[in-house]
Amino acid sequence: MYLLDRVSKVFDGRTIAVNELDLKVRRGEKLAMIGQSGAGKTTLFRMLNLTIPPTSGTLLFDRLDIGRLAGRRLREVRRRIGTVYQQHNLVPRLQVVHNVLSGKLGAWPLWRAVRSLIRPAEAELAYEALSQVGIPEKLYDRTETLSGGQQQRVAIARTLVQNPEVILADEPVSSVDPALAAGIVKLLIELSETYRKTLIMNLHSVDLALAHFPRVIGLRDGKISFDLPAAEVTDDHLATLYAGSEAETAEEVPSRAEPHPVRSCQPHLTS
Ligand SMILES: Nc1ncnc2c1ncn2[C@@H]1O[C@H](COP(=O)(O)OP(=O)(O)OP(=O)(O)O)[C@@H](O)[C@H]1O
Ligand SMILES: [Mg+2]
Repeated sequence: MYLLDRVSKVFDGRTIAVNELDLKVRRGEKLAMIGQSGAGKTTLFRMLNLTIPPTSGTLLFDRLDIGRLAGRRLREVRRRIGTVYQQHNLVPRLQVVHNVLSGKLGAWPLWRAVRSLIRPAEAELAYEALSQVGIPEKLYDRTETLSGGQQQRVAIARTLVQNPEVILADEPVSSVDPALAAGIVKLLIELSETYRKTLIMNLHSVDLALAHFPRVIGLRDGKISFDLPAAEVTDDHLATLYAGSEAETAEEVPSRAEPHPVRSCQPHLTS
């Protein structure tokens, strides 16, 4: 699905956010990325969802060299990739149905996108997506009246409506409480299993990553510190990953919780 060969991203000619990274992600894989603040997780994501191009190296998506795409062909590939953000980028004043259907905007001609703002086209589709995330009754509610966790579900429903091949989630649960966070991570995993999507998620919570993902990557200083099945990640790996971080000075270096899964009340690491 993705093949990265010595991919780097350098900002302003001096900040090396991602440093000659090699990575292979197969179709249908589910993987979590963890690492301290500033490790390069979001930058890597923005390259994976084609928001920014690598400074150097080769980035293949489904064998397409996406570093070389532009214009219409770039937009076509972007449509195959869905992104769920921490700030879910919903329009608060609109009804939920419109926010969900905006997942389709990339695929719709403009006239149809505009019409959907007046009269919900394919409300059925939105209803179905909302049912999958457990809040169908919110279809016609104003988005801003929903709780944070419910809004995050709306953002996931919007991604489902987009029907991408890959779901990228950058800290999708940082703004909801820990119990809800576990629920949303599980929901994304279940949905990606049911619909055979590739799922890549950035997480500040090591516990969530280890409890729910078969593959966990630790990023440090723009490089891969480890890339392992969750069961093989040790406290030593985590200590190396977070060495010198604020979490370490606060003696909050995460360690493997026993037993797994779900120490959902664990506070998140620094952001
Ligand atoms: N647009 C930008 N311009 C300049 N520097 C940037 C830009 N985006 C990120 N950086 C820098 O790149 C490095 C990696 O940032 P990035 O946001 O990828 O980290 P992160 O792992 O997502 O951190 P966090 O866990 O806090 O979200 C940081 O040093 C950051 O300051
Ligand atoms: Mg980030």
